[in-house]
This record gives sequence, structure tokens and C-alpha cells, in this order.
Amino acid sequence: MEIKETVREKYGEAALRVATGGSSCCGASAALEGCCDPITSNLYNAAQTSELPQEAVLASLGCGNPTALAQLNPGETVLDLGSGGGIDVLLSARRVGPSGKAYGLDMTDEMLALARENQRKAGVGNVEFLKGEIENIPLPDSSVDVIISNCVINLSGDKDRVLREAFRVLKPGGRFAVSDVVTRGEVPVNIRRNMLLWVGCIAGALEHDEYAASLTRAGFSHIDIEPTRVYNVEDARAFLSGQGIDVDAMAAAVEGKFMSAFIRATKPAGDIR
Ligand SMILES: C[S@@+](CC[C@H](N)C(=O)[O-])C[C@H]1O[C@@H](n2cnc3c(N)ncnc32)[C@H](O)[C@@H]1O
Repeated sequence: MEIKETVREKYGEAALRVATGGSSCCGASAALEGCCDPITSNLYNAAQTSELPQEAVLASLGCGNPTALAQLNPGETVLDLGSGGGIDVLLSARRVGPSGKAYGLDMTDEMLALARENQRKAGVGNVEFLKGEIENIPLPDSSVDVIISNCVINLSGDKDRVLREAFRVLKPGGRFAVSDVVTRGEVPVNIRRNMLLWVGCIAGALEHDEYAASLTRAGFSHIDIEPTRVYNVEDARAFLSGQGIDVDAMAAAVEGKFMSAFIRATKPAGDIR
């Protein structure tokens, strides 16, 4: 509960900053100008951002671009877990077309207000933003073709439950296509904590093999975890130095171990759980 309240407060403040003309991140637009944040910068290309309200782009707090990597077909139903200012929902809505539908799910009122305002400005009809938690998705069983998400599942204190819920609402044959922060291999606890603080993962990212195991436990098949950006200690130097950490001493332990990844999995076609 404490994690959830901290997350809600942090993203409520980020939404208000954007709504009052600022940026969700470090003083510049992450997505538009490639600001100092190597996690959220330059995720979307100009063709994508040009068709969106500027506030939706400014509010981008993801660590990947799930809509660029996911297969989305006209007429399909897409659900974005932790939709924030709505950037991936609006992009998905265009891809599935008027016969399809894109849902965004978020627990933070300020983000939902910002997303709904962005939808209004974008003039997109086949979109609905739902209030709720990704651990308890307010949609029926087997109702969604594709689940996307952008840097949210790492924030949950109960990732097994999130993945079980994702499995439940997907139709048999449905696709899980998510960007998230993942770690790989053993990292000393205090280094892991500080790197994840830098990334913004309050609850902590899953280790690569744990992520795959959790997806398997939930019932998924065809699991694939593909790194999209690997971070090194230089990326985090300013933040870590500010925490009083000897960055050079920890460089070797960090190398190649923290990354954004695109995670794919499928709900088996015959599964009617
Ligand atoms: C890092 S931001 C990412 C937002 C968006 N996906 C993007 O790419 O810009 C995380 C978002 O997830 C939401 N969130 C975090 N934990 C959640 C939970 N357990 N249930 C629902 N929403 C959650 C936050 O309110 C916030 O809007």
C-alpha cells in the first residue's frame, strides 16, 4: 500500500506539471528534445509525435515504444496498463482503426484527467480511459486482443498478480507486448537499489529469468525478452554522485545488467481459463 501511494503521488505531480505547461521529467521534453534522461528520451519518431497533442508527448514517461514493436491489427482491442498521459493509447487507437478500441488503465486521477484531455485534443473516438489498478483490471475475462504497457509493471509490488490479470483479460491467442525495465544477473543489493532508484522503479524491476518465470506461472507461452536499451554507469553518474556514491567503484557491477526490454508472450489459443 505504501509503494502504491508513493507511486500515485509521484505520477500525480508529474501529470500536474504537464497540465500546467511543464514537462513530466527533467525540465525539457523527454520525448521531443531528448533531454538528459536516457530512459525516456527519443522513444518516438517524428511521424508518431506529429499526430499527437504536445501534452501527450510531453507526458511520456515510458522506457520503450510498445506500439512500434507490437503487432496491432485493424479491429482489435488493445489495453495499455498504466497509460499515464495516454501517448501509447492514442497511437494504438489509430493503428486498430475505428472498428477497434484502445483502453488505457491508470490509478492516478491527475494522469486520467490529462489523458482524457489529450484524447479530446487528438479527436480520437475509439479510446476509453479507465480508472483502476493493474493488479485488478476492471475488464471481463478474455476481452482483449493485445496488452501493451510502458514502464509500469516494474512499479507494482505484486508483479505475479499483474501478469495473472493480464492473462485473464486476454482472449485465447492474445498477445502480451510490453516495454519494461529488466535487470540481468546478480547485482549487489545496494547497487541494485541505487540504480533502480535512478531508473524510477520504486518497487523494483524484475530480473530477466524471474520475469520469464512469472509469465510462465501466469500461463503464458512463446515468451521472449529482447533488450532495447542497455544502461551503463555513465548514464546514471550525475544521479548516483548526488547520492554520495563512488560511481567508478561500482561500474563493473552495473555493466550490461540494467536495461529496457520489450517483453512478448502469448496466451495459448486453446486456453479458456
Ligand atoms: C512511468 S509512468 C508511465 C506512463 C505511460 N505508460 C508512459 O509511457 O508515459 C507510470 C504510470 O503508471 C501508473 N501506475 C503505476 N502503478 C500503477 C498501478 N498499480 N495500477 C494502475 N496504474 C499504475 C501511474 O499512475 C503512471 O501514470
